[in-house]
Amino acid sequence: MASPTQKKIGIIIGSTRPNRIGPSIAKWVLQEASKRQDLAFELIDLAEINLPMFDEPRVPAMGQYEHEHTKRWAAVVAKYDGFIFVTPEYNYGYPASLKNAIDFIYKEWNGKPAAFVGYGAAAGGIRAVIQLKQLLFILKMLPVYVDVIIPNANAQVTDGRFKAEEAQNQALTALLDDLAARFS
Ligand SMILES: Cc1cc2nc3c(=O)[nH]c(=O)nc-3n(C[C@H](O)[C@H](O)[C@H](O)COP(=O)(O)O)c2cc1C
Repeated sequence: MASPTQKKIGIIIGSTRPNRIGPSIAKWVLQEASKRQDLAFELIDLAEINLPMFDEPRVPAMGQYEHEHTKRWAAVVAKYDGFIFVTPEYNYGYPASLKNAIDFIYKEWNGKPAAFVGYGAAAGGIRAVIQLKQLLFILKMLPVYVDVIIPNANAQVTDGRFKAEEAQNQALTALLDDLAARFS
């Protein structure tokens, strides 16, 4: 539970498929982030949010959401002051599940800082993160400079637990410092 002085950060798990490793990586992010006192963190699992393919009849920027699932999702996003997007790389980009969830709403994203933890095979999700940063500009979000990039991420997951290397813990600390600086 966030104290009145703590900004609330949602850690968004971008993948939704069975057998995904997204939750393992997001739990590591949460565990490390929760050592901080200045920000409060919670997981947001898009598989649990379970949105259909985008089906709003109006452009989300108009703010007139029709469907209950959209209103519920908008209320979730509105609760947070900033986000960490935990995204895999699928075919040189971020997954469709993440784009779909982002497209559904508009003003709830505006003006909020966003940080990125990318993971994948050889390139560690870097292409997904770069594309995601471009996308979030149109939503008037404020992407932070420091990213965490995890190549060959599957090799670091055993029994659902991601075991970080020291350099990855350090990169995550730098990311969290950069994110926190956006609120100071
Ligand atoms: C549809 C699909 C496309 C993929 N394309 C890439 C890719 O372009 N680059 C890469 O580094 N890894 C790629 N991978 C490997 C994934 O990054 C890796 O399987 C990762 O675990 C996926 O995240 P998830 O387990 O949370 O779904 C791809 C995986 C899938 C399922």
